Amino acid sequence: MLPCQRHLFDIPGDVAYLNCAYMSPLMKPALEAGIAGLARKTHPWEITPDKFFTGAEEFRQTAAQLIDSSPDEIAIVPSASYGISTAARNLPLQKGQTILVLEEQFPSNYYPWQRRAGKTGAKLKVVPWPENNDWTAAVLEALTADVAIAALPNVQWTSGGRLDLVRIGEACRRLGAALALDLTQSLGALPFSVNRVQPDFAVAACYKWLLGPYSIGFLYVAPKWHGGIPLDENWITRANASDFASLILYTEEYDKGARRFDMGERSNFALLPAAVRAMKQLLEWDVTQISATAGALNLRLAQAAAEIGFSAPAEPLRAPHYLCLRREQAIRRELPEMLAREKVYVSVRGSSIRVAPNVYNTAEDCDRLLACLRRIV
Ligand SMILES: Cc1ncc(COP(=O)(O)O)c(C=O)c1O
Repeated sequence: MLPCQRHLFDIPGDVAYLNCAYMSPLMKPALEAGIAGLARKTHPWEITPDKFFTGAEEFRQTAAQLIDSSPDEIAIVPSASYGISTAARNLPLQKGQTILVLEEQFPSNYYPWQRRAGKTGAKLKVVPWPENNDWTAAVLEALTADVAIAALPNVQWTSGGRLDLVRIGEACRRLGAALALDLTQSLGALPFSVNRVQPDFAVAACYKWLLGPYSIGFLYVAPKWHGGIPLDENWITRANASDFASLILYTEEYDKGARRFDMGERSNFALLPAAVRAMKQLLEWDVTQISATAGALNLRLAQAAAEIGFSAPAEPLRAPHYLCLRREQAIRRELPEMLAREKVYVSVRGSSIRVAPNVYNTAEDCDRLLACLRRIV
């Protein structure tokens, strides 16, 4: 487990921020990298053409390291929905086939599939919330011959339920179904390897567990899809992009690997350095350690919350970093505002209180939440 890393963040002592699943705080070194990047535009003459490529390549390389991939397999995207929409545009689907999603799946991993299914004459097949909280077993049961694409997360965002993507990946390959993943609520806090899972596409927005800024993310694209059609047709994703003088010699050829799927203006001089700095910190800490650290805080919370009537699935059915507390009585919608008045921050999602600590949290933060819950609910 890691010692508390709060010194790297600007979190006042009286703030119990337990809401990383909403948005992580940007750590000070990442903020500095972002400010330095933004400031570079005060001297545009120093932003030479090669700089349009170096920052993006460093981002690709760092992201690839996090997921056991290679920089050629990483595209730069602004959001999870952009990555999922890219997958939805490119994966084969026929009339009568189905796309598997989970009940209460996050909209960015739902609407692109709904649109694609509507256009193709395919259907969405929704895995119902399993009474025993075993999302993996529920997905494996639903993976039948009609499924062409399984569009899934690693962690179901309103329950904290964890999916065993290695087993699900194997089942998809046996069936000939594609696997498209939204890792936004897990990457950075739950170890993930493309070698082990073998997805076709996998996206993560950086602003949650990757501890990065908002409006940047990355999309893993398996080599077999590198010939696909991007959402954006942009000068910088074409093979001749580094020769600024000759850009109007239009070419059909794209840059290599997944780079063709990059968003327009992907060389974001402010956001990329901040995201890279944060991911490098995650690599240094080691995601297994982050998971254990957040997991220990959640375990302590879950045990104490049980005494006041809350329950949550136990690990390994639940992801260690992601605790959704439920109870018989409804959760008051205004609960987050009531807690915020005490400088305690969590979210309510569906019928759960979602608690999402990270390496900057302390046992005292958890105790403050518990004290408030005892009083308020
Ligand atoms: C599971 C999941 N995916 C994706 C996102 C963000 O999606 P987007 O980047 O499309 O805004 C969120 C935000 O809450 C999320 O919970």
